[in-house]
Amino acid sequence: MEKKFKRTTVTSALPYANGPVHIGHLAGVYVPADIYVRYLRLKKEDVIFIGGSDEHGVPITIRARKEGVTPQDIVDRYHTLIKDSFKEFGISFDVYGRTSSPIHHETASQFFRTLYEKGEFIEKTSEQYYDEEAHTFLADRYITGECPHCHAEGAYGDQCEKCGSTLSPTELINPKSAISGSKPVMKKTKHWYLPLDKHEGWLRKWILEDHKEWRPNVYGQCKSWLDMGLQPRAVSRDLDWGIPVPVEGAEGKVLYVWFDAPIGYISNTKELLPDSWEKWWKDPETRLVHFIGKDNIVFHCIVFPAMLKAEGSYILPDNVPANEFLNLEGDKISTSRNWAVWLHEYLHDFPGKQDVLRYVLTANAPETKDNDFTWKDFQARNNNELVAVYGNFVNRALVLTGKYFDNKVPTCGELTEYDRETLKEFANVKAEVERLLDTFKFRDAQKEVMNLARIGNKYLADTEPWKLAKTDMPRVATILNISLQLVANLAIAFEPFLPFSSKKLRDMLNITSFDWEQLGRIDLLATGHQLNKAELLFEKIEDSAIEAQVQKLLDTKKANEATSHTANPVKETIEFDTFEKLDIRVGTILECQKVPKADKLLQFKIDDGLGTRTIVSGIAKHYRPEELTGKQICFIANLAPRKLKGIVSEGMILSAENSDGTLSVIMPQKEVKPGSEVK
Ligand code: 2FM
Ligand code: ZN
Repeated sequence: MEKKFKRTTVTSALPYANGPVHIGHLAGVYVPADIYVRYLRLKKEDVIFIGGSDEHGVPITIRARKEGVTPQDIVDRYHTLIKDSFKEFGISFDVYGRTSSPIHHETASQFFRTLYEKGEFIEKTSEQYYDEEAHTFLADRYITGECPHCHAEGAYGDQCEKCGSTLSPTELINPKSAISGSKPVMKKTKHWYLPLDKHEGWLRKWILEDHKEWRPNVYGQCKSWLDMGLQPRAVSRDLDWGIPVPVEGAEGKVLYVWFDAPIGYISNTKELLPDSWEKWWKDPETRLVHFIGKDNIVFHCIVFPAMLKAEGSYILPDNVPANEFLNLEGDKISTSRNWAVWLHEYLHDFPGKQDVLRYVLTANAPETKDNDFTWKDFQARNNNELVAVYGNFVNRALVLTGKYFDNKVPTCGELTEYDRETLKEFANVKAEVERLLDTFKFRDAQKEVMNLARIGNKYLADTEPWKLAKTDMPRVATILNISLQLVANLAIAFEPFLPFSSKKLRDMLNITSFDWEQLGRIDLLATGHQLNKAELLFEKIEDSAIEAQVQKLLDTKKANEATSHTANPVKETIEFDTFEKLDIRVGTILECQKVPKADKLLQFKIDDGLGTRTIVSGIAKHYRPEELTGKQICFIANLAPRKLKGIVSEGMILSAENSDGTLSVIMPQKEVKPGSEVK
């Protein structure tokens, strides 16, 4: 950091309040932001951490319409759920506001008015789709029709979800209003635009020359936007949910959600610090840092800075450490497909294990490329790193101190060469972790801290104090003193990453708080200091817990396939006489029983009109024997007999297979004589 700042304003993207938050949110934005803020606080720097919900935008109105409630009902529900989830995970916002609040409406309105009065907008009239039955202009998402590319029905005015093409509403074939179902008409409407093209010059210099240190993904995305040339962007919409455009002649229009949402950072700061908010946004000695996901880069690096610059009295962000995306078990996380690990569900399934998820998400943070979360990796990182390394070291140091020194920090005697080497490795860690955290490399920083725990673990394994207890108690005391100092260091170094565990560890060490400055020192615990009883810092996660999570995802996948399934393609054409070779008949089931030691098979005795025959069929998972006895079914009568589990099967019962793999036996619609042919 070349420039010396007095204070830091940290913001994290305001999540849309139209659904719960999942691990992708945590990994992409909130855990890194929280690590950063906790680190600055530990260093006693002046910092505020601003969060909140983004409560406007079309998807919220669509959801409300679907559920038959108001948009306010939707955002009230999710704002609370999201806020609680963040709190549970220790995301330590100083304020968590919301964009439907009066203070935000007031702030965003005022911001718009200032730009309007300064002549920073252009006004343009264009033609947009209008629903004459519902008397409303239609947002792109409210228009559906046939995709011009893949011809799927139900494509949206901005995107076809079938083939992924980006669309504009006028490209849709046979457009329909999603509100009334009527055919929309083109109608003129006026909107306000931020002329980004006019800002291109300074934006180019500010990003491409002055901020070469930004992450390559952020810098690269900005560069490609700038190289394509910036266009004026509409900052208003025809919609009835949002902040009314505060100028005359703007009835029925609201601020575009991406205009008001980033102003939410300012409103929420005002809510936190009504009298001193301005210095956090306007003093050039304040450093502004936005934590976001990669889909928000253009808004935070180009559009919002242009708004701030146009207003004139605000500072610009110093850095925007955007993350790439986190996938789940190889697939993109998706709210609509329920392909996610929801935070409130995780908390229910793994109570008290917030730090485990924080650890795994940081270890796999999608800092430079998209990454994958898998439950197996989650288990492995918990069991092999948190439990086997960090937890094990802490536990051994504390338990041995309990056993030999009555839980009091023993005296450190003369150091050996090996002791000195170990301590030297510890001494460098502070500078290294700081360098990594200052440059937003959270994943490497956490790795570095875990390495410390490895060093500690190795130190105990190598020195084996338990073997020396009978012969050399002063040496045992020295080893444990050193180990305990290392444990205390770990409590500090892990604090930004694993705050719950550090608190637990401090409680065991009987220390109320540590400062970051103390990191690297080996006199953190005075000789004779009384420790508390050792408890396990982490617990092993069993296979069964992981299998349950994997099963949950498999069930989701199955349900998704069932709803999105399109029938298999038709097989190759056959001649009529090939068909005629098949002898399909109706039979009556006389007896039915399970085949022992074969959980899929049922054995049938069938009246086929000529006598009886035995058929074995793989439908035991779908029917109980008593459900079928007495029923008529269709079967292939001339199939060559086959032996299944030692039983000769004389034919095959016909079933229809549903897309989810369930089977439905084909039965004649009226009773017919056994042996009737199916034609
Ligand atoms: O992408 C999103 O979830 C947006 N709601 C983020 C808004 S960030 C900020 F501008 F408020
Ligand atoms: Zn398509």
